[in-house]
Amino acid sequence: MIKFFIRTFGCQMNVCDSMWIAASLTRRGFIQTHREEDADIILVNTCSVRRKPEEKIYSFLGRLYPLIRKTPHLVVGVGGCVAQQLGPRLWDKFPFVRLLFGTDGVCEVPQSIERLLGEKELKISLLEFMDYYPEREMCWRDIKEVEPSVYVNIMQGCDNFCAYCIVPYTRGRQKSRHKEKIVEECRVLVEKGAREITLLGQNVNSYGRDKWGDGTSFEDLLIEVGSIEGLKRLRFTTSHPKDISHRLISLFGELEVLCPAIHLPLQSGSDAILKRMGRRYSIADYMGIIERLRRVRPDIIITTDLIVGFPSEKEEDFRQTLEVVKEVRFDSSFSFKYSDRPGTRASRMKEKVPEEVKMERLARLQALQDSLISSSLKRLEGEVVDVLVVGKSPRQPGDGRTFWMGREPGNRVVNFASGRGDLIGEMVRVRINEVKKHSLLGEVI
Ligand code: SAH
Ligand code: SF4
Ligand code: F3S
Repeated sequence: MIKFFIRTFGCQMNVCDSMWIAASLTRRGFIQTHREEDADIILVNTCSVRRKPEEKIYSFLGRLYPLIRKTPHLVVGVGGCVAQQLGPRLWDKFPFVRLLFGTDGVCEVPQSIERLLGEKELKISLLEFMDYYPEREMCWRDIKEVEPSVYVNIMQGCDNFCAYCIVPYTRGRQKSRHKEKIVEECRVLVEKGAREITLLGQNVNSYGRDKWGDGTSFEDLLIEVGSIEGLKRLRFTTSHPKDISHRLISLFGELEVLCPAIHLPLQSGSDAILKRMGRRYSIADYMGIIERLRRVRPDIIITTDLIVGFPSEKEEDFRQTLEVVKEVRFDSSFSFKYSDRPGTRASRMKEKVPEEVKMERLARLQALQDSLISSSLKRLEGEVVDVLVVGKSPRQPGDGRTFWMGREPGNRVVNFASGRGDLIGEMVRVRINEVKKHSLLGEVI
């Protein structure tokens, strides 16, 4: 029996690609293992959005040497953004790697692995960018059951070239996927047990606005996917503020299946920095969007991404970021120290912010975020929420009951104990009776 191991770094798009590879290999009779030592095939899906995740991949690959010494023909594959960024240079660094694949190459990974297993000296590179969205086989049809919450790609790549970002170089130009294919995949997933779908793209709001678009807008797509019978929840990520439409905002008030949650990366609270980042919106535009979203859906959960220490960011710019964060009252946010990425415009900008200043700003921002997260979670104390159960908690109470883990409509994790049978995939009503640092504890009512 041939066993495979997959490790995934990076964003949901990588998680989605890995999910498909795993399903496609399973369909071919391979078995997934969670221990590298047992595997005949080791795949790692990589991220290069900042220097740190890129470094993690090198240490992961370095740790494989003892296994390679034992089994020299192990099939090791590296995919995702670092593979695309470095290309065959990865072969110089790690000669044992036998497969390189970028996002457009994912569809050919399973066949390539079959070839690599048969031809011990072969190496394969699947790094070409295609001029269209390369469809993948609909392997879900042959899978007995899928997870209750799944991701579906609606596009590939990005055309925005924000000054700091490597994604347009590693994922290529924006290519929308055909609407029929997206809807078909969603239908099959729901038939196989999915209850929640998250539509994915680097900038979903511009779905269809490229030469592959067939006139279907992102809003039309949401309505169509949202009408699939059996689907309980619909989400999407990531939105770019410059492309968010009035119609999309209204859908939060009209489409019941659409969850009241949006991730809307702000990046900076200073107009001058936003301009240098090439984000193409102002703080006034952003605040206008937030106001309209809250008018349509007062309970909407708003999350964001922030970068501190972008080249030329002054203390005053950073203070404006703190101000905007306070004013918006984000329910949660991710913040990062600016990191130079090869080939980007920002990497060539002068006036780099010293590391100690970035660290100090990040600490101040994170302290503010922590207090906002706690007050956002506190608002749920005593409330009854609908929870989609996605699995068992890692920690069990040991009293015969089971600790389940699920998510409420705003996508926050809720843990609760229950003596009832298998709840995975079920929607249950839970009263929140304890607020933890990043999660919620409740009881079924
Ligand atoms: N497509 C998404 C984000 C993709 S990258 C969007 O446009 O919102 C995820 C987050 O990583 C970004 O929102 C940004 O906050 C952060 N990021 C990207 N490049 C970065 C860099 N060079 N340094 C620090 N953070 C970065
Ligand atoms: Fe990167 Fe900007 Fe594209 Fe997001 S929109 S992936 S931050 S270039
Ligand atoms: Fe990382 Fe590539 Fe996603 S750089 S964030 S894995 S698009």
